[in-house]
Amino acid sequence: MKRILVTGGAGFIGSAFVRYLLRTYPDVHVVNYDKMTYAGNLDNVKECPPDRHTFVRGDIADATALGAAMEGCDAVVNFAAETHVDRSIMGATEFLRTNVDGVYNIMEAAKRLGTARVLLVSTDEVYGSIDTGSFKETDPINPRNPYSAAKAGGELLGRSYFTTFGVPVIITRGSNTYGPYQYPEKVLPLFATNAIDGQPLPLYEGGEHNVRDWLYVDDHCRGIDLALREGRPGEVYNVAGGNERENIELTRRILELTGRDESLIRFVPDRPGHDRRYSIDASKLRALGWCPRMDWDEGMALTIRWYQENEWWWRKIKTGEYLEYYKRQYAALSAITE
Ligand code: NAD
Ligand code: TYD
Repeated sequence: MKRILVTGGAGFIGSAFVRYLLRTYPDVHVVNYDKMTYAGNLDNVKECPPDRHTFVRGDIADATALGAAMEGCDAVVNFAAETHVDRSIMGATEFLRTNVDGVYNIMEAAKRLGTARVLLVSTDEVYGSIDTGSFKETDPINPRNPYSAAKAGGELLGRSYFTTFGVPVIITRGSNTYGPYQYPEKVLPLFATNAIDGQPLPLYEGGEHNVRDWLYVDDHCRGIDLALREGRPGEVYNVAGGNERENIELTRRILELTGRDESLIRFVPDRPGHDRRYSIDASKLRALGWCPRMDWDEGMALTIRWYQENEWWWRKIKTGEYLEYYKRQYAALSAITE
């Protein structure tokens, strides 16, 4: 694989994957195709060498532009998505457009061009919530919010192109990912940057004991890369962090690492349909030789330090559209703080 198209490569995990490919494979050229929604950020790829990284501003829902970008690429790895559950609850139009129609365009172009590999990056959220034990790839999916339902729709379309047309598609389902450059709407960077500023941390009331399995971003990227190279077309691979934590525990750790106390915690109304626990079994990917390398304490310490040392990156995000979203999403919090 010499020329790889990465869609959504200006976002959090996509940009980490672009940086990972460029440092791991000296002969790879990355075409980074990204619509630059509110979550896209060229600061995330500004260190990428221009002779091996071509940025194309484009929408996966635009079949013509996408097809042109895919031409001549040996593989496509799709990160492009609307990704925030709370925004999908406010309105899901863009989620369907990108996460379903966009994936359909990728599959159609791959079929037409004979693309050698397509990897669709998906999420453990498609399985829905599980009280005990962990989901395997063979378990039925049961997405329970508009974001995960749209991701599941994209996946199912992708798999249908394997069975119907033989398009060599591989799917990964990763767990909650954390690390540098994550847009500060997701809980970890939101709480970290708020804590740095001494601002309240809006914890969903009733959800404080909900559990997420945290996966360090570079471990996620290595898992996706292995599935891309060694995975079997038509198959799904879980990528699990192996760090299940209650939200309250995560919150306390962030407070500890930023030197703040629990008086910053504010309980706000719970997310509708809030999935209680995500848990997946990654033994299928482990059998190919993958395992997460980042230790939880070290990963948290270096991630929080990164947000402390890189205010230049997140301060300019936390303006304009972000503040409007924040006010709308946390209206209850404004009522408490104003
Ligand atoms: P992100 O929101 O940080 O980035 C998404 C990127 O996709 C942005 O750069 C955005 O501009 C781009 N994009 C959005 N719509 C597009 C379109 N129509 N055409 C082209 N580009 C478009 O997301 P992330 O957290 O990096 O997630 C990346 C992928 O990983 C997503 O597919 C997501 O479902 C999946 N995933 C995320 C997590 C997580 O915890 N963040 C866990 C498992 C899987
Ligand atoms: P999030 O980062 O949105 O990821 P996901 O919903 O995809 O797992 O949320 C992680 C957990 O944190 C989830 O249980 C909801 C909770 N949460 C809060 O308590 N407060 C918040 O402001 C946010 C954004 C999330």
